[in-house]
Amino acid sequence: MFSPIETSRLRLRPFTAQDGALLHRLMSDRKVFFWLDAPVSRQDADALLTSKIDDIGGGLGWWPVFLKSAENETSGFLGQVCVQPLPGSESIELGYHFLSNTWGHGYATEAAFALLDLFFASMDRVHISAVVLPDNTRSLKVVRKLGFELCGTRLHGKKRWPHHYFELTRRKFLAQGNSAADISAFSGE
Ligand SMILES: CC(C)(COP(=O)(O)OP(=O)(O)OC[C@H]1O[C@@H](n2cnc3c(N)ncnc32)[C@H](O)[C@@H]1OP(=O)(O)O)[C@@H](O)C(=O)NCCC(=O)NCCS
Repeated sequence: MFSPIETSRLRLRPFTAQDGALLHRLMSDRKVFFWLDAPVSRQDADALLTSKIDDIGGGLGWWPVFLKSAENETSGFLGQVCVQPLPGSESIELGYHFLSNTWGHGYATEAAFALLDLFFASMDRVHISAVVLPDNTRSLKVVRKLGFELCGTRLHGKKRWPHHYFELTRRKFLAQGNSAADISAFSGE
């Protein structure tokens, strides 16, 4: 199990089985999980959490993200970042979901960068993938700021919608030389 990660504004820690209420709050935000047909129940959130916590082994899978300056985790919860197997492939994908009232502050990019830093430091992988719907403007900006490059199209998710398929190589990530703690260092900003 990994220790919490701190960036200049954020604290990330691995999800635990006790975090069902946080995940349920996030999954109940219809602007965030816009592709779901129906709201997710607390039971569904608990079950998902149990199945996803350690998705790629070693405790690296799903991480809730908190504002460091908040009084406690409940009030400071912002969203989640994750690295998980990309279905139908040998690749690992980066994912991120943030409560809609927290968008527009750079939190998702800052948190994703920190997790990528840990990912490339601890996993023997030459690249990481991301799949984004072509009209998901906010998410497209995040992957581009992180240095991902468009490699093609991929049918993804239960609905098999065509997504843009991106990859970020270890070589490129390390060459960017950014500090995970300093979002102002992101290329493309
Ligand atoms: C995708 C998602 C995480 C992006 O969230 P976001 O807040 O837009 O992304 P960032 O954290 O990078 O924030 C970027 C914005 O913060 C602004 N910002 C404000 N203060 C900032 C700071 N100190 N540092 C960096 N950026 C800052 C940037 O200018 C940018 O603004 P813009 O959106 O007007 O261009 C969010 O929209 C989401 O959860 N969507 C639903 C789930 C989803 O689609 N997930 C991805 C599936 S592929």
